[in-house]
Amino acid sequence: MIHIRSKDEIELIRKSALLVTATHVEVAGFLKPGITTLSIDKMAEQFIRDNGGVPSFKNYNGYPYSLCISVNEQVVHGFPGDYELKDGDIISVDCGVYMNGYHGDHAYTFAIGNVAPEVLKLMRITKESLAKGIEQAKDGNRVGDISYAIEQHTARDHGYGVVRELVGHGIGKKLHEDPQVPNYGRRGDGKRLKEGMVLAIEPMINLGRREVYTLDDGWTVVTNDGKPSVHYEHTTVVRKNRGEALSDFAPIEKAEQANKELNSTYYTPAEAV
Ligand code: MF3
Ligand code: CO
Repeated sequence: MIHIRSKDEIELIRKSALLVTATHVEVAGFLKPGITTLSIDKMAEQFIRDNGGVPSFKNYNGYPYSLCISVNEQVVHGFPGDYELKDGDIISVDCGVYMNGYHGDHAYTFAIGNVAPEVLKLMRITKESLAKGIEQAKDGNRVGDISYAIEQHTARDHGYGVVRELVGHGIGKKLHEDPQVPNYGRRGDGKRLKEGMVLAIEPMINLGRREVYTLDDGWTVVTNDGKPSVHYEHTTVVRKNRGEALSDFAPIEKAEQANKELNSTYYTPAEAV
């Protein structure tokens, strides 16, 4: 069953989603080559708890950390650990917060230092595809309209691999609710959308082929071909004319820019390339 959330409930979901955004802002300022992914997880968990939230992922189906941190060819559900970030990596950071009875869930892929232009383009196109999906999250549309928009911009327009094994989802009192929101599909297919439904829309897009597998840890999903993968996600409410993201990329982008200037020694000046 798909819930229609009241105005008050949506504001509570927004609060949780914006604490996730604030956590990503902290992460953005923390990133530099040499730090471990476990240190990011520890910092983020403390930040969430200091702000009155609980990390949604910790202990969810036995997941052992607060964040999922997926490096390069890792698609999603990567374990934070002793891996040290290095120049040219990308990391997809997925974070959920539970507060006041409601969850927020959103993900962001960060560049570490000098990332290959084709990977930066994959990041841009995936972020754009999320915006196009959100545009379709309007009353009267169907789930397939969101799916189609994402697949169109990534697979058909740019030849990227759209991961099929994992999907977006309804979100609210539980982290995962109905309906499933695939990143591929046909216009007009699937459940009808109504104003007040809240969906986590989350394209997972591969530079190469779409096939993935899960590592022996039982969680980490990686690309078959070893090429990089990107993940952006917003907690989104269905509205009359277009979806509204309850989480927010703008402050994260600002923090990314500030961190880039602060750590400019890690970046090759443009004229030297
Ligand atoms: N955003 C991801 C999802 O919706 C993260 C889940 S990680 C888990 O599936 F650990 F909570 F499973
Ligand atoms: Co999600």
